[in-house]
Amino acid sequence: MITDFKGLRSRFPVLERKTYLNSGSYCALADSVKEAINNYMDDRLLVGANWDVWVMKNEAVRSLMAQVLRAQPDEIAVTASASAGINALASACNFTGKRNKVVISDFEFPTNAQIWHAQELRGARVVHVHRDANGYIPLEHFEQAIDEETQIVAVTHVCFRNGAKLDIAGIVELAHARGAKVMLDCYQAVGSMTVDVKKLDVDFAVGGMLKYLLGTAGLGFLYARQELIPELTPTNSGWFAQANITAMDITANRPSPTARRFEAGTPAVVNCYAVEAGLKIILEVGTDVIEERVRYLTRLYMDRLQEIDWPSITPREDERHGPMICVRANQVAQLFARLTEQDIVTSFRDDNLRATFHFYNNEKDVDAIVQALLGHRAEFRP
Ligand SMILES: Cc1ncc(COP(=O)(O)O)c(C=O)c1O
Repeated sequence: MITDFKGLRSRFPVLERKTYLNSGSYCALADSVKEAINNYMDDRLLVGANWDVWVMKNEAVRSLMAQVLRAQPDEIAVTASASAGINALASACNFTGKRNKVVISDFEFPTNAQIWHAQELRGARVVHVHRDANGYIPLEHFEQAIDEETQIVAVTHVCFRNGAKLDIAGIVELAHARGAKVMLDCYQAVGSMTVDVKKLDVDFAVGGMLKYLLGTAGLGFLYARQELIPELTPTNSGWFAQANITAMDITANRPSPTARRFEAGTPAVVNCYAVEAGLKIILEVGTDVIEERVRYLTRLYMDRLQEIDWPSITPREDERHGPMICVRANQVAQLFARLTEQDIVTSFRDDNLRATFHFYNNEKDVDAIVQALLGHRAEFRP
């Protein structure tokens, strides 16, 4: 079957007006996602408090997210954010013994560093794995850091600063050989490529719904490997994390036997409507197809950047990058503003201008940004 990318693109109206290369920040809005939010509004007007339907919406998100990650629904907690998932997991970790080390990397999104550092009050030791002179973090650097005292390696899949993708399978193999668990922060990857948690063999994975998963802010997920769930009791909890939500028992904490134990309070209902619609698009197109499309577009962009002699700083090899390609720029905020004036939507971190690609982008988008960069090259190229 040949995927109709043109037809798919027409479902994202903003793409008619903008060169939208910002899915790594916030996805383009699909017509069905907008409609789903309107349906929630109609529900409120027509039915009032439609709790039976609303709770099922949360379950729909759980089930769809499980399909995206190729896991089981009982292994998915639907959380308020990636941070909420990491916090719930961290709260279940015990740092009082010898295995109290947490390994993170230079590529982490701040939240994944800050939350683990917060565990220092509970006995955790946080160790950072540094990049090399080329800006990448080779597997050997992880090899030096992960040892028999390591409880968890909490690492990003794709770096939000520079687009570099880590060798997750290699890290998992190292960690497991030394008795450590791995938590993958796949926020900058999931939805833009296949993230098969079973194949990668990670123990936990977190992310959120507003980027490549096409949903909205206010919802995230935590995947926890089935066998590990019973041994983890989050102290970061709430009534929606209980085995029986409607028991209303105030005498004890009785966590759900499933990954729901990592949840907390009332589901973010309106977000569930939007996210259900977004995840359905991802599954309809298929993550393998999306990965291939994103690879094609990112390769094309990197080739064109070479041609205009403003090469990307994101590693070129397919296995070392995902949907985000960065170029270094002088006064990057000004370059970003110029592009915005030209209706080219990007973002920036450090000195890097980030262009992030999804299946709904096309060759015209690549051409538009390359032509624009060529026009600004004399002023902004380092
Ligand atoms: C890689 C990565 N991890 C975590 C986060 C933060 O997620 P949240 O705000 O849902 O906690 C982001 C947000 O951009 C991210 O890119």
